[in-house]
Amino acid sequence: MPSDETSDLGAQVEAARSAAMSLITGTTSAAEVAKIGGELAGKKSALNTLRSGLGKIQDPEARKSAGQLINEASQQVDAALQQRIAEFLVLERASQVASESLDLTEFATPSRRGNSHIVTQAMERLEDVFIGLGFQIAEGPEVETDFYNFEALNMPRTHPARSEFDTMFIEPFSKDHEPNTVLLRTHTSPVQIRVMQTWEPPIYAVMPGRVFRRDTPDATHMPVFHQIEGLVVDRDITFAHLAGIIEAFTKAFFGNEFTSRLRPSFFPFTEPSAEFDIKRPNGDWIELGGCGMVHPNVLRAGGIDPDEFTGFAFGFGIDRMAKERHNVEDIREMYTNDLRFLRQFS
Ligand code: DAH
Repeated sequence: MPSDETSDLGAQVEAARSAAMSLITGTTSAAEVAKIGGELAGKKSALNTLRSGLGKIQDPEARKSAGQLINEASQQVDAALQQRIAEFLVLERASQVASESLDLTEFATPSRRGNSHIVTQAMERLEDVFIGLGFQIAEGPEVETDFYNFEALNMPRTHPARSEFDTMFIEPFSKDHEPNTVLLRTHTSPVQIRVMQTWEPPIYAVMPGRVFRRDTPDATHMPVFHQIEGLVVDRDITFAHLAGIIEAFTKAFFGNEFTSRLRPSFFPFTEPSAEFDIKRPNGDWIELGGCGMVHPNVLRAGGIDPDEFTGFAFGFGIDRMAKERHNVEDIREMYTNDLRFLRQFS
């Protein structure tokens, strides 16, 4: 039978326990929980004061059960403290993560997409048109040898046409090359030879790329510019096929209101040779490039028998087409890398 002494103690333990519990519930941070925990564990805390009064209980049984009551209450208080501190740690960690995390979405969704350069755009459109006409794309090196840039194109060492090309030579990088035989290609025509050497006819290829000439930059010239070369080698290819392809290309690229014409001209690598112009709907003629039937010496240099196959070739500048299309007044504008200029053409 519990004595009055113990039942009174029971009420005090319960009062101390529930007071501790409501203190814990009222905390607002882990630091506060730690502070209250320290006070509750201290000698002067209500439960510990009760514990130190246990000795006054005479009856050993009653003392033991009162001790158990206090221990249980302390354990509950301890557990509540642990749980409360854990809750705050979780919350505090979450808010720390939230405050320290970087919002990367602004990098993932830039406010503006970039656009390709107008020369790249022109090159890609040209490729599309020629692919539509059944051509394949080929590329060659920008650093060339005298052989591919001149010799194989029917321009031997002493050929006067060489001087028209304002060539930039570079130091030979190997003992296999003599001085003045390694150069920056002055046109895309050397790729014709490389294609003939590696592909078997029938060949229907276009070869876009960067070319270099010793030129002072002005409104219409740059020392680095772009060309696209065309080459067809097949059986029974005639000048009529060349004229037909130039006309089909003109309409596909510029529009049906445009037409083309060929004017007799001279290039060492074609015979006969022509210059081709296109006519704007307003009647103006624009000079575009050169073309002609591939010279038998050039076919031979490419390893092709001119008695079995014939072909035609053409080549023209891309920069000028981009300049015309976008009404750029000074070609140098296209190469100053001024984003305000370049962004206009997206
Ligand atoms: N390679 C010549 C140049 O840069 C252009 C050219 C003319 C290319 C006639 C050709 C061609 O393929 O047949 O001036």
